[in-house]
Amino acid sequence: MNRPLLNRALAGLGTTIFAEMSELAVATGSVNLGQGFPDTDGPAEIARAAADAILTGRGNQYPPGAGIAELRRAIADHQHRFYGLTVDPDGEVLVTAGATEAIAAALLALVEPGDEVIAFEPYYDSYAACIAMAGGVRVPVTLRAPGFRPDLDELRAAITRRTRLILLNSPHNPTGSVFTRAELTAIAELACAHDLLVISDEVYEHMLFTGEHVPVASLPGMRERTVSISSAAKTFSFTGWKIGWVTGTKEIVSAVRTVKQFLTYVSGGPFQYAIATALALPDEYYRSIAATLALKRDLMCDGLAAAGFDVYRPDGTFFIMTDIRPFGDVSGLEFCRKLPYEAGVVAIPSVVFYDNVDAGQFQVRFAFCKKEEVLTEALSRLAVLRPPR
Ligand SMILES: Cc1ncc(COP(=O)(O)O)c(C=O)c1O
Repeated sequence: MNRPLLNRALAGLGTTIFAEMSELAVATGSVNLGQGFPDTDGPAEIARAAADAILTGRGNQYPPGAGIAELRRAIADHQHRFYGLTVDPDGEVLVTAGATEAIAAALLALVEPGDEVIAFEPYYDSYAACIAMAGGVRVPVTLRAPGFRPDLDELRAAITRRTRLILLNSPHNPTGSVFTRAELTAIAELACAHDLLVISDEVYEHMLFTGEHVPVASLPGMRERTVSISSAAKTFSFTGWKIGWVTGTKEIVSAVRTVKQFLTYVSGGPFQYAIATALALPDEYYRSIAATLALKRDLMCDGLAAAGFDVYRPDGTFFIMTDIRPFGDVSGLEFCRKLPYEAGVVAIPSVVFYDNVDAGQFQVRFAFCKKEEVLTEALSRLAVLRPPR
């Protein structure tokens, strides 16, 4: 294992800043729009299904290593219903302890020490740590404001003899960008041409306001080289249950499962029954997730713009990236450290998601997966910041 890299990743700013901001939120009584978890639980009938499973003795003992059959079947049905993908619930689906474990197990299974892993920054904080734990070398390709589009020339130039895989995340946290079919097709062509694997983190697949979600595994030549990852956390608003999943070929899933076996073996037995029920909810449920969030996105984008931020309107996820330069010559980190005292709101300095710190120096991320009244309160507090025009 590459200890120096691992230590660097684990001691990264992100790990400490999330904790610092959460503590600041409590200490100052701020509205916390930092970490991305909803303040409302998912559907009551799904919570009841979990309680029923516990009370009727389903899943209270170790479930099967790959996940219970009902959930594997529901995941396969979901992939077919939304994307026309055919996956075999027996061997091509693995239930994990959230997408977090799926990402870790996939990287540990597929990356050899010294392999290069290309990821689009800014990136979700577990990527750097997991690449390092696998002994890999992360190679960032920067998504740049205002559009945060993948730069295909930069991607092409980043590929070397040592590149093993590309780590994708669309809809993308923290920028809210959604990769288009054309962009994903170009990435897929590069992956095929250079015989690369792709790990595709799709946890925000149902949180889309414009465009379409295209699973990269659905593109030509990609099924056999893609580890598709998703999770119940965001889609069903039960982030504490930690039910995620991997789909892919039998070879890929079995490699990931071998690692998973020694990370957690199994988890969340009764919750697996409940999520099997949740995945079968009607289309209307899935439509309502995006529709409700779209209203909150508009409320927050308009409010943040009115408060003086430069706002990058997201096409997906429940995050908004902003630029704080209208407020003067202050870094995102300083800005976020002062914000709880000056306005009673907590946000995250986006620099923690970058290797290339220059690109994220003046960016700040707000989460809007909160009740409307909480967002309205945050906006009314932020109004005190309004810079002179
Ligand atoms: C991009 C991304 N991937 C994965 C995860 C983790 O998902 P889970 O809670 O299912 O482990 C998150 C959670 O914030 C995320 O934003």
